[in-house]
Amino acid sequence: MQSDFEFFINGNSHRGGGTPAQWGLLDYLRENRMTSAKDACDRGACGACSVLLVDSDCRQRPVLRVVNACQLTLPMVAGREIWTAEAMTGGEEEHPLQKALSECKQFSCGYCLPGFSMAFGEIYENPVKTCSSGPLLPAVGNICRCTGYWPLYSALNELLRHEKMSTNKSQAGFLTSSCDGLLPAFAYRDQVGDLFYRPGTLTEALRLLQAHPDSKLVAGGTAYSSSRQFSPRSKASRRTIISLESVTELRQVAREKGQWQIGAAVTIRSLFDALAGKFPLIAQMASRFGSPQVRNRATVGGNLALAEHDSDLVPVLLALDAQVVISNLREQRKLRLEEFLGGPSRTVLSRGEILKTVLVECPDSTAREQDSGRNLSGFYKVSRRHHNDRAIVCAAFLVALNEAGRVSRARLCYGGVSAQAMRAYEAEELLTGALWGPKVARKVAISLRQTFPAQSDDMASADYRNAMAGQLWRKFFAEHRTPGQYTPVDGGLVENLLPFETHRETVEDG
Ligand SMILES: Cc1cc2nc3c(=O)[nH]c(=O)nc-3n(C[C@H](O)[C@H](O)[C@H](O)COP(=O)(O)OP(=O)(O)OC[C@H]3O[C@@H](n4cnc5c(N)ncnc54)[C@H](O)[C@@H]3O)c2cc1C
Ligand code: FES
Ligand code: FES
Repeated sequence: MQSDFEFFINGNSHRGGGTPAQWGLLDYLRENRMTSAKDACDRGACGACSVLLVDSDCRQRPVLRVVNACQLTLPMVAGREIWTAEAMTGGEEEHPLQKALSECKQFSCGYCLPGFSMAFGEIYENPVKTCSSGPLLPAVGNICRCTGYWPLYSALNELLRHEKMSTNKSQAGFLTSSCDGLLPAFAYRDQVGDLFYRPGTLTEALRLLQAHPDSKLVAGGTAYSSSRQFSPRSKASRRTIISLESVTELRQVAREKGQWQIGAAVTIRSLFDALAGKFPLIAQMASRFGSPQVRNRATVGGNLALAEHDSDLVPVLLALDAQVVISNLREQRKLRLEEFLGGPSRTVLSRGEILKTVLVECPDSTAREQDSGRNLSGFYKVSRRHHNDRAIVCAAFLVALNEAGRVSRARLCYGGVSAQAMRAYEAEELLTGALWGPKVARKVAISLRQTFPAQSDDMASADYRNAMAGQLWRKFFAEHRTPGQYTPVDGGLVENLLPFETHRETVEDG
């Protein structure tokens, strides 16, 4: 058990000894005069506190990730490297990104621009640069209320084009060859007795969970930090935190025996990198999930363990007929996701148990169907903001057609409508065996409007949610009316408007 730890900010060594275990990174930065990271919403919603974190991807390769400093505690960064916008200033030469942003004839306030430069820094400073259009737009988690994003995007685009994205090095050396982004196991006790554990194996994590029955598990910490439990201002009582971040087996995406095994501590970003090419539903869901900063931290297991009614991931995994593996010190059990979800905001996880893996069938068995366009899928989300907002209603649809053009399999899964994510069994039954066409689609739309015990809250009424359940289905049908021919019906998507070409790494089959 350590009473001190080291971490690095802008290449300089810092020590965390003597600091409260629940102290936030953002507070630390600001108290140590690294004020480029701003304290605005304090809950991951605005991106003003963005910094770059040296992390590892699902193949344990070092990568730079933009994260919200307000969503990290200091012990979470023990042994890690952080870069702030200060690292782009003060050198002998102006950083190319800073130069491009200052010359783009955009009025930007000092409150937001450092966050933007960090969000763009994730793209510019990562050594692996590919210039391909992708759905993961940068900086959509950075809120600007004054002028607009366009000139800033254009400046980055120009810069990347100018450099032809060919330099396989980190421009400012944020990611050096000595970085591995991997996290050693670690344990810290602060001066008042709060404990922070970062075990290296699942068994170790389970043992700690048994030894500290009142401890709190944390993975990415996005939900944990939003509830402000760790902030010194919340005067949280003494506690033990067990972080799953360095349990390597929980951070991997692997293919085995016809199934994809997704570790519970895999982030939404890593899930996208590993499986977006295989599962269009995952690609579409990830592009609407939170912001880059949130996706870079939020984990699959954290999302499922919370079982929130408006989760974007749960309907997608329900549609993919996912299973989950739960571990305790004695045994492992495998459950269908539907069995795992025990009710509104509830799961069947018991004390001493950890969600270990999510299992999804490889789509290869139906590859021929997919090639001929007979496996239809789509994810849709209605939210107040296009990005970084929770779903009012979201839906994941998967419809398989046989040779005769009849529906052989249908899964219609919704989030946000009711108190928990649900499948529309009645509509699925209507579809199964029916000839794919407007007649059955209409019947299903009518059925969907009456399927759910919808709820009203300050975002939307139950009537609106029920209506949206039917409308999202109509949109899916309109887009997939002719199998094999996708016809988007949305003319106003932000992705279509922005001229941006995003950086994206692709991960081959593991
Ligand atoms: C600004 C913002 C935007 C968001 N946008 C979206 C969105 O668009 N769509 C969406 O679906 N969600 C969204 N979320 C919610 C949140 O990001 C997700 O639910 C996230 O996936 C939680 O994962 P985490 O690793 O951060 O969880 P943590 O905060 O680390 O943990 C959450 C809970 O899960 C438990 N837990 C974590 N891992 C395990 C495990 N392996 N076994 C057992 N228990 C575990 C923890 O004990 C804790 O109770 C948003 C959150 C914020 C703050
Ligand atoms: S202060 Fe708004 S995201 Fe951190
Ligand atoms: S740049 Fe700060 S509000 Fe727009």
